[in-house]
Amino acid sequence: MQHLVDTADLSDAQIAQLLHDTRTFKAQRPSQLLRDRLLITLFFEASTRTRSSFEVAAKRLGAAVVHLDPSRSSAKKGESLEDTFANLCAMDPDGVIIRHEENDAPRQLADMQMTSVINAGAGNYAHPTQALLDLFTMMEHFEGDVEGKTIAIVGDIVSSRVASSGIRLLQRMGMNVLLVAPAPFMPQSDLPQYAHLDDILDKADVIMSLRAQLERHASPIFDDYAEYARHYCITKELLGDRDILILHPGPVMRNIDISDEMLEDPRCKVLTQVKNGVYMRMAILKLLLLDS
Ligand code: CP
Repeated sequence: MQHLVDTADLSDAQIAQLLHDTRTFKAQRPSQLLRDRLLITLFFEASTRTRSSFEVAAKRLGAAVVHLDPSRSSAKKGESLEDTFANLCAMDPDGVIIRHEENDAPRQLADMQMTSVINAGAGNYAHPTQALLDLFTMMEHFEGDVEGKTIAIVGDIVSSRVASSGIRLLQRMGMNVLLVAPAPFMPQSDLPQYAHLDDILDKADVIMSLRAQLERHASPIFDDYAEYARHYCITKELLGDRDILILHPGPVMRNIDISDEMLEDPRCKVLTQVKNGVYMRMAILKLLLLDS
């Protein structure tokens, strides 16, 4: 039984297989490879992209999807996460896709070895499917080779599971990672750290902008996000004519993370990331449910 809790669960050959299958599925929609399979989604935190992307991916492959809304489940009566999961597994799903605010939740459920567990985002620790779709988007842009390319991750890095997973996966793929953030958003890290965007513009092939995750801050960090935006918002004025790929996992805080004008610029691939996310998640479901 294979799980995807972190990208470290995948071998190099499996990552190569995922990139290959994603490319193939994007070129030509496959037949219903997962007909008769059943997935359950269990999202303890809000989601627009990841939940719907998994559901679309599963349905494109012919699988059925059942969604349990924890806010209307017996978790509200005090049932533990483990008991909720065990009861869902008693219905014989082929996999459970979970998002949870606790870093360890997907691994705890995977260790119960009752069904394949896919981490759709856990705390600030891991969001492996986002890291994989971001890798695919960069591979596509750089025609299959990201080794030696430099990515600058900008924004609320310390709160971000996208950053945590991305840093681990992209370094593994041979990319250079720079961190750009004000001190309260900067994690403890050995990676090169910058306080100003100006300092990385001539080094970066890719900028990944991140949202300030206000819901994870115990108390407000900045009184005025307009002032934060003055230093960290990605604008056309800032970029000039530099050939830099702009990514963001979403949701984008317009004119704080990325300007309206920049979101319309062909260098900005936010919606391409979302499109690629469906194909990557199709590849992930195939890997875990069919190939493993
Ligand atoms: N990128 C991402 O995880 O978006 P959602 O929170 O909308 O799923």
